[in-house]
Amino acid sequence: MTTLVTESPEEAASFIRSGGIAAFPTETVYGLGADAFDADAVRKVFEAKGRPADNPLIVHVADAEQIDLVVDTLPGSARALMEHFFPGALTLVLPKSNRIPAIVTAGLQTVGVRMPGLPRTLAFLGACGRPVAAPSANRSGRPSPTTWEAVLDDLDGRIPCVLRGERSRVGLESTVVDCSTGTPVILRAGAISVDLLRGVVSTIEGPRSDTIARSPGMRHRHYAPQAHVVLVRRAPALPSGRPAYIGLEPPLLPDAYRILKTPATKEAYAYELFDFMRRCDAEHVDVIYCQEVDAEGVGLAIMDRLRRAAAAH
Ligand code: TXA
Ligand code: MG
Repeated sequence: MTTLVTESPEEAASFIRSGGIAAFPTETVYGLGADAFDADAVRKVFEAKGRPADNPLIVHVADAEQIDLVVDTLPGSARALMEHFFPGALTLVLPKSNRIPAIVTAGLQTVGVRMPGLPRTLAFLGACGRPVAAPSANRSGRPSPTTWEAVLDDLDGRIPCVLRGERSRVGLESTVVDCSTGTPVILRAGAISVDLLRGVVSTIEGPRSDTIARSPGMRHRHYAPQAHVVLVRRAPALPSGRPAYIGLEPPLLPDAYRILKTPATKEAYAYELFDFMRRCDAEHVDVIYCQEVDAEGVGLAIMDRLRRAAAAH
């Protein structure tokens, strides 16, 4: 199959409307979508990605009416979070409506719902005219794509269409909060920090090892570049192999590194991380040194992704 790259949200949406799949930009990372009400279409997403069937998809909505089609009940905590963070980089796990087929939620009675904030995404979702189930648009196990080119690196010839858009402004996936049982719990650290969430719902629990079991996706191999990922306090002065480095502090001997990224802030680190990992693969780097950050703000999500990337080998 040849993969069409289009600038037109309507053209990309026509694939979704006719039971097919298409990749599209969001402010967090690129997604690979299908009609959330069409089990056969959603199956194509799992196949193209090589995604395990026990890992549920997030359903993307354009407006409040679509939320009502997707979820069964809306607890007060979810209403408050939606009011503050929709549209944006937040996914809420809620009791699912009967219209959502089991394949979307991997058989769970809950569904992840997100309303992205990027105008281009909303134009695409609006043209689809229905909720769109979409995981990140990478081959399963690889870093999430933050550019349309990265989508093609993983899925060229495996999907019929990519909606071309800007590089994802955030660079890391949405924060996932489970609002389906009493006290809301963070299942995946992400773009929206724990402190910001607690400013709205003070009782929200942070990610804990036992809650990770509730987010099936967190059990799988993730975010792995081909190179070996090593977490460091400081850049090594004499790195081995064909090394690369990313960190807030520059190394003593910058020339020792094949690829070097020294973002000025944690937000910039998050923005660069997945793109940097993919560049390392393209340049056949064999060791990636990643400087640890403190777990405040988006630092928690950065450390989560770094630990997973390091554990993948
Ligand atoms: O920013 C994002 O969230 C991107 C963009 C495309 O929206 N999407 C994304 O999707 O990262 P994906 O499939 O790569 O990650 C979805 C995460 C997984 O960890 C999955 O297990 C969790 O959300 N999830 C989805 N539905 C769930 C549910 N019903 N219960 C618990 N966890 C759920
Ligand atoms: Mg993913």
